[in-house]
Amino acid sequence: MPLLLVQSCSLLASSTYLASTLFTMRGLSSFILAALSSVGVRGAVASSCVLNHVSTSPPTGSAEVALQSYSYCGGTLNVTAYVNNLSYNKIVTLYFTNRQNESTPLSALSLGYESSVPNSKFEYWIAAAPIWTDGITQLLNITYQDTDDGQTYHQLLDLHVKATGAPPPTLPSPPAPYATPSGFGNDVTQYLAVESGSEAEIAQTGLFRNVNPAVKGAVNGTVVAARSGPFYSQTEPDYAYNWVRDASLTMDVVQNLYSAATSKTAKAAYEQVLFEYAVARATEQTDPNLKTGLGEPKFYLNNTIFSGPWGRPQNDGPATSAITLMEFANDYLASGGNVQTVKEKIYNSSAYPHVAPVQKDLLFVARNWSWPSYDLWEEVQGDQFYTRMVQRRALVNGASFAQKMGDSATSSTLAAAEKALTATMSQFWDPNREIILYAYSPVMDNKTSYLDTAVILGIIHGYAGDNVFSYTNPQVLSTAVRISTSFIDVYPLANKTRSISAGPLGIPVGRYPEDVYNGTGTQVNGGNPWYLCTAAFSQFMYAASSEYAAAKTISVTNVSLPFFTYFAPEAKLQVGKSYSSTSSQFKQVIQSLDGWGDAFMRTIKYYTPAGGNLHEEFNRNTGAPQGASALTWSFASVLTAAFARAELRGNGSYIESLANLGFKANS
Ligand SMILES: *[C@@H]1O[C@H](CO)[C@@H](O)[C@H](O)[C@H]1NC(C)=O
Ligand SMILES: *[C@@H]1O[C@H](CO)[C@@H](O)[C@H](O)[C@H]1NC(C)=O
Ligand SMILES: *[C@@H]1O[C@H](CO)[C@@H](O)[C@H](O)[C@H]1NC(C)=O
Ligand SMILES: *[C@@H]1O[C@H](CO)[C@@H](O)[C@H](O)[C@H]1NC(C)=O
Ligand SMILES: *[C@@H]1O[C@H](CO)[C@@H](O)[C@H](O)[C@H]1NC(C)=O
Ligand SMILES: *[C@@H]1O[C@H](CO)[C@@H](O)[C@H](O)[C@H]1NC(C)=O
Ligand SMILES: *[C@@H]1O[C@H](CO)[C@@H](O)[C@H](O)[C@H]1NC(C)=O
Ligand SMILES: *[C@@H]1O[C@H](CO)[C@@H](O)[C@H](O)[C@H]1NC(C)=O
Ligand SMILES: *[C@@H]1O[C@H](CO)[C@@H](O)[C@H](O)[C@H]1NC(C)=O
Repeated sequence: MPLLLVQSCSLLASSTYLASTLFTMRGLSSFILAALSSVGVRGAVASSCVLNHVSTSPPTGSAEVALQSYSYCGGTLNVTAYVNNLSYNKIVTLYFTNRQNESTPLSALSLGYESSVPNSKFEYWIAAAPIWTDGITQLLNITYQDTDDGQTYHQLLDLHVKATGAPPPTLPSPPAPYATPSGFGNDVTQYLAVESGSEAEIAQTGLFRNVNPAVKGAVNGTVVAARSGPFYSQTEPDYAYNWVRDASLTMDVVQNLYSAATSKTAKAAYEQVLFEYAVARATEQTDPNLKTGLGEPKFYLNNTIFSGPWGRPQNDGPATSAITLMEFANDYLASGGNVQTVKEKIYNSSAYPHVAPVQKDLLFVARNWSWPSYDLWEEVQGDQFYTRMVQRRALVNGASFAQKMGDSATSSTLAAAEKALTATMSQFWDPNREIILYAYSPVMDNKTSYLDTAVILGIIHGYAGDNVFSYTNPQVLSTAVRISTSFIDVYPLANKTRSISAGPLGIPVGRYPEDVYNGTGTQVNGGNPWYLCTAAFSQFMYAASSEYAAAKTISVTNVSLPFFTYFAPEAKLQVGKSYSSTSSQFKQVIQSLDGWGDAFMRTIKYYTPAGGNLHEEFNRNTGAPQGASALTWSFASVLTAAFARAELRGNGSYIESLANLGFKANS
């Protein structure tokens, strides 16, 4: 959610998708150059670089762009091009094919202005970027967008590229583990216990306080992201809004409590809140001033649209809202609820558009999933893995739910869309980086690592239970180890690896390693670990452990090995082998995953201030809380991790006890 408002928002909103993504690539080459110096080039005897000259003078005639020279040396691509200085704003991009001989959204490089060409209207534009992760076999074309005049010029290249110089580097392995946590810790059990003053109770109270915010003008069924900003007479950040995403994920916690409650009073209160949430969502859908349809991300607390500049659309919201409400409806029916009530108050949007939002959101997902969308951090537009995953789960669940509602036409529509969407999912796996890309899009906002905790959140909120990108999928595991360990070198705080009294601390996890958002603004080295991202890794470990326990076997592939080498080194697993639940290795892995789940939770505990309030972030140097105070999503993430831990431990009464505490209407 909150937010790094894209500086060039008005430009983004008015330009095409391609132009906007490429525009944000301008910072790329210098960033990559800086990264190169730390990579180190292998090979003692460096053969020399070969620079290929393509043309020795600016083009004549009608050509406005032309390649001057290129080299691919030691893994770095150097190019120089002539670009006619037709106007002030230009975007120059080189497209190539990678070592798989594929041209993907990643195989593009943005050039930057270097100098003018003497006695000519042309300029030199250059790029020097380490592209060895993708490799290169061919230069395809160079494209020049004259954004002021809306013209685009190309030069077709079709040049075969030969590597020269030292051999390119190879992908580094994750680091060696700094700790080997094992088993559950009493400190974490205590932290999450259902008892007065525990973090679980504080989180539940904190979350409820932000549901149906009892402030002037607020309507029931909304969720305030945090009580912070001018609305609450506070300084920054301004989070006093009802975000569709945050509300749906928060209401999902309420739904979990509804499902588990055995106290009649508690259950009835959750039920009321969830029906109010359905109305609130329908109100958003029918707001007369929507700017980008149902992917509108943000509303005031009176639930009318926030229409200022913002990253639009954010198409995950309709999906997670539908998921939450379908789960609620299923549990409501299972508890003896009336099917007609579900149709009228949750599902049938065509007949009850001001009350029942689910059918409309599902059909929107079915129609619109392939469109680019802003990511869950509201910063970059593209084809987002997180968004696709939650859309997929909405369609999977929706197809069977629509059947239950007697709506087989919608069911077929959703099933067909799900099939088409699922067929695109494999594109997110990048064999060169050995990760699932957070977006299948060119580099944006300096996110050159393509690592983002959004992928883990995509599994947590989007896994549909049908083996497509499950917790123990080798590609998911490989991604998890590379994302989490990427923060070790980024946050000085990560050098604190143990709580003396209680044991190993998990890695403090943020959104992505290149993050510069500090909770109120942006700053060099400003990004911090987030409570909800660290909790996501805790939950991920618990859920992976549960999944292995259910499968009763662990199979190791060359893709998943690095995960086990880092998170369960003592088990010494080998590629190609399977370990049954009776083996010592299996037990060792389970112990390790449980231990890491607790280690990540222990990090949250360690940096929780007295009183238990969870902010958005904790400072990368000091661990002090930072950013929005009492962020609803932070509380929600600790609770869902606690639920996963209890499930893993077979403690069915945990969530029930918490649920029976009831909905405490806020003040
Ligand atoms: C998808 O949504 C975008 C706006 O977010 C809209 O421009 C586009 O028309 C929609 N496409 C379809 C097929 O609904
Ligand atoms: C909703 O709240 C916003 C912000 O406080 C305000 O500008 C707007 O006028 C309100 N809309 C209605 C219909 O009350
Ligand atoms: C929605 O309700 C209307 C009016 O009762 C009915 O005609 C229609 O069949 C319903 N649609 C679904 C999918 O239940
Ligand atoms: C990208 O990183 C470079 C170098 O650190 C910096 O100068 C530039 O402002 C960054 N761009 C963005 C969009 O953050
Ligand atoms: C860890 O990093 C912090 C913040 O940079 C620093 O103050 C502290 O001295 C470091 N501790 C160790 C053991 O390196
Ligand atoms: C965050 O960055 C902004 C500048 O964008 C700065 O004003 C503010 O002091 C920073 N916050 C912290 C806690 O460092
Ligand atoms: C794993 O093995 C397959 C098949 O041999 C190979 O194509 C792939 O590149 C390997 N991947 C990794 C990450 O080693
Ligand atoms: C399950 O959770 C409840 C609530 O925290 C607790 O009282 C109970 O001791 C737990 N049971 C086990 C077996 O851990
Ligand atoms: C709004 O919710 C509160 C509980 O959070 C409840 O007391 C109140 O009656 C509700 N208001 C309406 C209009 O339903």
